[in-house]
Amino acid sequence: MTTRRAFLQSAALAAPALLGNNVATLPRPKPSNRISLAMIGCGYQAVYGNLNAFLLDPRVQVTMACDPILRAPGYGYHVEKEAGRAVLKEKVDAFYGNHDCRMERDWRKVVDDPTIDAVAVLTPDHWHALVGIAAMRKGKHVYGQKPLALGISEGQAMARVARETGVVFQVGSQQRSASEFRVACEIVRNGYLGELKGCEIKVETNRGGCWGHAFNRERRTAPSYFEPGMWDLWQGPARHWENNAFIPGIHEPMVWRFNSRTGNGMLADWGAHHFDILQWALGKDDSGPVAVENMTTNLPEDDEVFDFADVFDLDFVYANGLRCHVSNGHMKDPVFGFHNGVLFHGTEGDLLVRRGFIKLPPKLKKWREKTDLKDSDVHLHKSRGSHESDFIDGICLGTPVAAPCAVGHRSSTLCHLANICERLRIKGLKWDPVAERVVGNEAAQRLTVVPHHNGWTFG
Ligand SMILES: NC(=O)c1ccc[n+]([C@@H]2O[C@H](COP(=O)([O-])OP(=O)(O)OC[C@H]3O[C@@H](n4cnc5c(N)ncnc54)[C@H](O)[C@@H]3O)[C@@H](O)[C@H]2O)c1
Repeated sequence: MTTRRAFLQSAALAAPALLGNNVATLPRPKPSNRISLAMIGCGYQAVYGNLNAFLLDPRVQVTMACDPILRAPGYGYHVEKEAGRAVLKEKVDAFYGNHDCRMERDWRKVVDDPTIDAVAVLTPDHWHALVGIAAMRKGKHVYGQKPLALGISEGQAMARVARETGVVFQVGSQQRSASEFRVACEIVRNGYLGELKGCEIKVETNRGGCWGHAFNRERRTAPSYFEPGMWDLWQGPARHWENNAFIPGIHEPMVWRFNSRTGNGMLADWGAHHFDILQWALGKDDSGPVAVENMTTNLPEDDEVFDFADVFDLDFVYANGLRCHVSNGHMKDPVFGFHNGVLFHGTEGDLLVRRGFIKLPPKLKKWREKTDLKDSDVHLHKSRGSHESDFIDGICLGTPVAAPCAVGHRSSTLCHLANICERLRIKGLKWDPVAERVVGNEAAQRLTVVPHHNGWTFG
């Protein structure tokens, strides 16, 4: 542990008495005593999502904006926003009222910079493991977006390095810091829903309009918003297309999700959130299902560009026989209308949870989390503020975080197992959650290993 980190932990901001406070009301230490945070990846989720929460935490100073793109149009679910390192810097500087936020194109310089205490990895999925591991090895704390990695081998390596280095690692599964999901999981986990009979998850696919970008398979040269060398840095370990082509439908902002060289498809994009809640409710954070079964998808034949299904059905099966049915789309509820979320079926009734809403069975309708949960019950991690501030608590106070690396790896594993079945067009597979290996299918086991190209490796 560095002297600076020891200082940050022992400084006034680390006083345990502050634990009960809302972080926004904490005193703001002078900049040199704040956590110096670099944002690596300045796209939609960074500029319009995580940044706001980090700026509002008085213990943080956002000091660096890193992205190979200076500024580009086309970010946002309706392609209406700009992003890039200059956009993030402008927002940070406007908030602090100065010009101090530095910009960097190459993340390797950021993780090598001794003035940086923590990084937020907000890149497309193909970079999560390489950047996250390099940062941890340099002693940086990491807020790493979900799904944790591009595949199981990368997640295993990240969880191992997080354990070895002892840095604070918060996976961006922010549903773990939302009270409706915690309450739902506490009710299920402590048996207040009776015996759990099954579970249903609906995953948003939202691929219809490719999030505003066309389903465009044209091969082009990289657009001018990539300065020389930056298109290669954007692609990093991802296998290049013929003639190093830029394909708008999978290379414009945000749509990297729809190709397996850079993303994990929509099953993982939203699935990573809801499978994480399933694992939490079942108490399987260090384990997982033993099988994927009944998989059907609309995966197109021979489409190398859009190579993920957006219609899917499957079951995750746990060792005790519990079955969770997953499909794309929305549930329809008379109260909530259409939504994606998690529905638990217990012998005492159904519990439905989605972002901002929880619907309890009649017997539990008056559930008061403060008094109805007994001292002897399992009490799950309660973030006192945002998921981002929970990460900062982990750094300043040494408290456990809501979504540690190893936990995010286990939740993301469900996404990867389903994607492996989809890729091989098989109905299912058996999984050994202890050995973390596919049972009896070598082709599927091989797909747990993520190949790295273009000379990139995390060693
Ligand atoms: N937790 C959530 O609710 C949530 C929501 C949306 C996205 N996400 C996650 O956030 C991450 C980013 O998604 P997004 O929607 O913001 O994508 P995006 O395409 O809008 O942004 C990604 C940014 O990363 C940059 N980038 C690419 N290579 C880089 C490199 N080598 N170094 C630094 N930056 C690099 C890109 O140029 C781009 O600006 C993904 O992992 C996604 O799954 C999480």
